[in-house]
Amino acid sequence: MSPMSKFIVNGGRPVIGRVSIQGSKNAALPILAATLLCTGKSKICRCSELSDIDASVDILRSLGCQCTVDDKCVEVDSGRVCEYTVSECLMSRMRSSIIYMGALLARCGRAEVSFPGGCELGSRPIDLHLSSLRLMGAEIDESGGYLHCEAPHGLHGAYIDLPVASVGTTENIILAAVTAEGRTVIRNAAREPEIVDLCAYLRQCGAKIDGDGQGVIAIDGVGRLRGTEYSVMPDRIAAVTYLAAAAITGGDVEVYDCRPEHMYPVLSYFEQAGCDLTVTDSSVRLRAYGRPRRFEVISTHVYPGFPTDAQPIMLAVSTVADGTSMFVENIFSCRYKYADRLQKMGAHIRISERVAVVEGVERLHGAKVSATDLRGGAAVLLAALAAEGTTVIDNICHIERGYEHIDDILNSLNADVKRVNDDVEQPNEPC
Ligand code: UD1
Repeated sequence: MSPMSKFIVNGGRPVIGRVSIQGSKNAALPILAATLLCTGKSKICRCSELSDIDASVDILRSLGCQCTVDDKCVEVDSGRVCEYTVSECLMSRMRSSIIYMGALLARCGRAEVSFPGGCELGSRPIDLHLSSLRLMGAEIDESGGYLHCEAPHGLHGAYIDLPVASVGTTENIILAAVTAEGRTVIRNAAREPEIVDLCAYLRQCGAKIDGDGQGVIAIDGVGRLRGTEYSVMPDRIAAVTYLAAAAITGGDVEVYDCRPEHMYPVLSYFEQAGCDLTVTDSSVRLRAYGRPRRFEVISTHVYPGFPTDAQPIMLAVSTVADGTSMFVENIFSCRYKYADRLQKMGAHIRISERVAVVEGVERLHGAKVSATDLRGGAAVLLAALAAEGTTVIDNICHIERGYEHIDDILNSLNADVKRVNDDVEQPNEPC
């Protein structure tokens, strides 16, 4: 049994100070899955203390890996992998667990996984994952809620032309291809920095990969990879979230230990909002002066376009802007579920399918709301920081999937966020 917690936020205080940025969740998850492919020990550092990282470690342990976690470094010895099934219970703890399909096929020639869990952002199909792995020699049978995968003759290279530059599919193909027979070419591969980080790690293990970050990735399969020590990249969405906390509260925040070049698609919008930015190689300082100015149109696209994960965050900022802003969500069909929480706090938002029109108000007010998903939850928390009065946010497990110690960090930045455990105990069955 684990208690369900909530945040009680007393808003209206400018967020001020400096924050070191956590390691990227979305980079750490595929890298942890990739340790399955290595001989010897792997040590993956800068793994944030997050429930999704815990879920990954639990999956690796359930497959027979020896894992130790010490000061954000996860050491994995995958020498004695004896299982190729990831239980439904473990799979449901995060959507990203689908990448174990490619990693297990590469390592064991077989994989049994159920359909994955994760954020509720509308339809999140896995058809491209399946068709790509089939092109590489996997036979996949979907029955009883499970995907039974087998590569009876081993995985082989393939030419894969993705109709959508899907991040998870690109990762799954890479994991399957690095030790497959022959060459794999992925056209219209996702170019997100987290893909580049996965490839950098794999190259350090001995993989032969070219073109990551550029849209066409070529992978020449090698034998088993060797374990190595690697530090994952900083989390660009967490960095943007803390900058947004300053923008929405008229504050002054410096994020450091980050990679501003990954954040450029978002940074220009902070300037549009009238904030001052000071950018170095590894830090960004944002100074806000009163109400943000309105955004014209923010339209989400694959990298290097404006990231869908930053859409709820910037929409939260726009709720208190001095005019009307427009958002167009092109990646996920249902990514405005959090908007009614912001409306409860006094925001004026009209949604029509993929478009949201936000008429900025002078002040939001506190309310009792709940987090809907990871970034939607972050949007609600940002709104609460700016709101007059007290906001109670429950279901914060969604927020804590992606933000390490966010309450402590915000409190160190002059905010007033209390984390309390609910009286109602939620069943948390062991997997
Ligand atoms: C990853 C990120 C997530 C981010 C998203 C887009 C992780 C753990 N998650 O999610 O935070 O919001 O990239 O940047 O890294 N699609 C299909 N068929 C498939 C797979 C995807 O049609 O088989 C579609 C999806 O429905 C969506 C689009 O492709 O419309 C992009 O999804 P994808 O890039 O795969 O997102 P994820 O990897 O799930």
